[in-house]
Amino acid sequence: MSSLAGRTAIITGSSSGIGQGIAIRLAREGANVVIDYVGAPEGAEETRQKAEATGAKAIVVQADVAKVEAVRMLVDEAWKAFGSADILVNNAGMEKKSDFWETCEDDYDHVLGVNLKGPFFLTQAFVQRLRAAKKPGRVINISSVHEDMAFPGFATYCASKGGVRMLMRDLAVELGPLGITVNNVAPGAIATPINTSLLEDKPKLNALLANIPLGRLGSVDDVAGLVAWLASDEAAYVNGSTFIIDGGLSRNYHEQ
Ligand SMILES: NC(=O)c1ccc[n+]([C@@H]2O[C@H](COP(=O)([O-])OP(=O)(O)OC[C@H]3O[C@@H](n4cnc5c(N)ncnc54)[C@H](O)[C@@H]3O)[C@@H](O)[C@H]2O)c1
Repeated sequence: MSSLAGRTAIITGSSSGIGQGIAIRLAREGANVVIDYVGAPEGAEETRQKAEATGAKAIVVQADVAKVEAVRMLVDEAWKAFGSADILVNNAGMEKKSDFWETCEDDYDHVLGVNLKGPFFLTQAFVQRLRAAKKPGRVINISSVHEDMAFPGFATYCASKGGVRMLMRDLAVELGPLGITVNNVAPGAIATPINTSLLEDKPKLNALLANIPLGRLGSVDDVAGLVAWLASDEAAYVNGSTFIIDGGLSRNYHEQ
């Protein structure tokens, strides 16, 4: 039997990259999937077709996670389509490079809005439903190695992912008594559209690869496998942890 048969998962930003891979993987494990996207719908449609090809049920919902009304609507749509939901994957994210001293308010609001405010209020809407129904649940945030490691030129991204780290730790304690677990998956360098400029810059890419003990970038499937395990019954007692998935990158410190 598939590990997630009969469950429903909401995956934000699942029209591309890691979120798309997670949605398809959870569908393959038997879950119904709610595919959230913002902007162009083609990627979300591709995710839906691939998820349905596994035999799963899927719906596509356009919801900007930075907007509280939109995330509430996303949860409403999941309940409308499937009667409830069990798993929330806060995956949607973005980054904006700028020196700290030049970062403008709009960029700050955008990055923090998508990466931190989004998971905060979407998790709140999800938990309100679960609490009312006295149902357990899983919350899995896709944070980053930068929930802990510095990333010069990306102070907004670091602030947002560091915020997600403490949000996860707080909610693990606050929601544990409700039977809801909360954990983070912290990827290192994964080959996805968010890294387009890095992937096109061979010298920079090679320098990065030299620092990754496993000698390659991570794949979307690497991350999706970890998320599928965290969503499964096997991870029932896992709560309040960050799972780094970076090929050893963040442990590879060298004395000069
Ligand atoms: N690729 C990596 O190396 C890497 C490393 C660490 C963490 N991450 C994290 O993984 C997550 C997924 O990123 P990815 O690498 O797949 O890149 P990606 O750009 O392919 O995916 C990000 C997704 O989030 C969506 N999104 C952006 N703003 C949104 C909004 N307001 N509402 C809803 N969706 C929105 C985008 O449309 C896109 O589908 C992000 O949270 C990112 O920070 C990625």
